[in-house]
Amino acid sequence: MKGIILAGGSGTRLSPLTRVTSKQLLPIYDKPMIYYPLQTLLTAGITDILIIVAPDHAGDFLKLLGSGKEFGCKFTYEIQDKPEGLAQAFLIGENFIGKDAVTLILGDNVYEQDFSEEIQSFKNGGRVFAKKVSDPNRFGVVEFDENQKALSIEEKPEQPKSDYAVTGLYIYDNSVVEKAKNLAPSPRGELEITDINNLYLKEGTLDVAFVEGEWFDTGTFESLHAAIEFARDRSKVA
Ligand code: TTP
Repeated sequence: MKGIILAGGSGTRLSPLTRVTSKQLLPIYDKPMIYYPLQTLLTAGITDILIIVAPDHAGDFLKLLGSGKEFGCKFTYEIQDKPEGLAQAFLIGENFIGKDAVTLILGDNVYEQDFSEEIQSFKNGGRVFAKKVSDPNRFGVVEFDENQKALSIEEKPEQPKSDYAVTGLYIYDNSVVEKAKNLAPSPRGELEITDINNLYLKEGTLDVAFVEGEWFDTGTFESLHAAIEFARDRSKVA
């Protein structure tokens, strides 16, 4: 299993904090944001990790993270020239992924859960993790039938069919690369991970699990603040 941390994007909602640095380098209490998704991958036993960054901040990520030796893993770096969507990670990462399965985690997502079991037991298809949220229209939203079976996923719907958002950790078999190659950009000009998930759903191979414990998408001031409080409280317990 390979790992990808997607740490590009523009971070416009956190401006002016992101005017001179990358969102994923901002502090979450005592560590840079990217340490949290990195720790999620490392805890699950993933040690071959591609970090995708925006051109402006590539040097800063290299300076912070280096080769990976310090973390007991190996980092590869790639640049995403423009933020053209989450699913572009599988095109940029095609050579890195090779013939393996891959776990993608967003560089601004903080999870409490240990995903070792979910990642190590993965065989094929796709596996995503949903969480009940108060603002589903910011996310990909899962529609369930009465037996909790996923029917569809809609990207940032105006009228969400549930309160369950797809969060920023995705496990896919190798067919994700071919799936990504066949995507067309959405009306907002991005290759959408929701389209990839819907392809797996159509094949009947998408497992929609639920996040256990806390989860933060730290892209807004409110969620960034909540994640910092969580990290501070947890460090007091540890
Ligand atoms: P978003 O939070 O959706 O986008 P953003 O980081 O550009 O922020 P804003 O909407 O405030 O401008 O992105 C989620 C994560 O994915 C985040 O870690 C950035 C990353 N990302 C990329 O690396 N490349 C992309 O093309 C996109 C869309 C996001």
